[in-house]
Amino acid sequence: MTINYAVPVLPGEGDTDYARYMRTDTLLSLQRRPQEMVHRDELLFQTVHQSTELWLKHACFELEQATRDIHAGEIESAVHLLARASLGMELITGQLEMLRHLAPWTFQLIRTVLGHGSGFESPGWREVKRASQELGQVFAALLGERRVDLVELYRGSPNAPLYRLAEAMIEWDERVALWRVRHYKVATRTIGHQVVGTKGTPVDVLSGLISHKFFPELWRVRTVLTETGPMSAGAPAGGG
Ligand code: HEM
Repeated sequence: MTINYAVPVLPGEGDTDYARYMRTDTLLSLQRRPQEMVHRDELLFQTVHQSTELWLKHACFELEQATRDIHAGEIESAVHLLARASLGMELITGQLEMLRHLAPWTFQLIRTVLGHGSGFESPGWREVKRASQELGQVFAALLGERRVDLVELYRGSPNAPLYRLAEAMIEWDERVALWRVRHYKVATRTIGHQVVGTKGTPVDVLSGLISHKFFPELWRVRTVLTETGPMSAGAPAGGG
């Protein structure tokens, strides 16, 4: 029997199995059509936002499983999944570069069709906050159960499973902050300083968010290491 590869075999909408599985008809209909646009760069603007939402959906999917894995004591699996989430965050940080091609005056035109829509309403970013908080809680519970002191952990081997988990978490936290740095610069380069966004929030509030930390104890442990290390004020002279 010969197989006719040209004929789709999957159920669903679309001319091909690729279209049916990837739902490309639906996906590619989610952007405003040229006749609806106030400016052709709306496609650029929507593409960056919509693909960001997709990557954030994926990142949070991984974060949630990582949280369950930590709960179940599967530390290596959690480390692996957190690395995926962090890479997704890196990718969406990179794609903010496309907004270099969005001229400030063009954005003023696009802004007229955004209503009060704002990044504060991004479902992906809301999930990032929720999933990161849950991850932090389950990590803290694990440290408590195993009676692990973070400072001692960080004075020990970087190859220890819990050390690697802590580093995977701080990488996530840092990647989120790096997205915020790039977003802040994009926002101010586009709309300037001391103005308000579509939600009425002063743009400069974004600079304050850069220092937000999901896992402050993992940042604090570095401070403690510096304060108690060989070069600290209380250390014996000639301590290296
Ligand atoms: C020209 C491009 C952009 C400008 C001018 C801009 C501007 C702003 C402004 C002024 C705010 C403060 C809240 C408000 O009043 O709206 C904000 C917040 C936010 N925007 Fe954007 N934005 C841009 C692109 C993006 C992109 C591509 C995303 C990706 C989804 C995004 C996501 C967010 C998020 C998540 C917040 C909340 C702040 C945070 O949690 O750090 N923005 N943006």
